[in-house]
Amino acid sequence: MGKREAAEKQREKLLRAARAAMKKAYAPYSRFRVGAAILTGTGKVFSGCNVENASYGMTNCAERTAIFAAVAKLGPKLEIHAVAVVNDHGVPCSPCGACRQVIYEFGPDAIIFFQGAKGEKQAHITELLPEGFRLK
Ligand code: THU
Repeated sequence: MGKREAAEKQREKLLRAARAAMKKAYAPYSRFRVGAAILTGTGKVFSGCNVENASYGMTNCAERTAIFAAVAKLGPKLEIHAVAVVNDHGVPCSPCGACRQVIYEFGPDAIIFFQGAKGEKQAHITELLPEGFRLK
């Protein structure tokens, strides 16, 4: 298998995991279900969905759910290589600003797959979040 083919297979795998997680979303307020999946530095996949709350601001996006699940399982050395995001409306949906900063924490070189204004898109995290904040 060529490098390109392997990368495409990985993208498909991430998108499949994101779609499966999307079905578990708790989104009674927006009715906008989102699923995300991350690929770790050791080749593992973790997924998550959005979890809303009657106190709207407490809502957790699908991306952060996936990342926090990975940290809970693997510990603090998590490295994110790629992230895929899908939604059940088939509309453009890139990670929100808060999620970009959380992705950047563990994946300063991560590639993000999402639906852009003109269809499927892939972008480097630093394109989505220039000058992300770091403490170390
Ligand atoms: N949402 C995500 O889970 N990820 C995104 O990338 C965009 C927005 C969720 C938050 C909320 O539950 C719903 O989508 C509508 O904003």
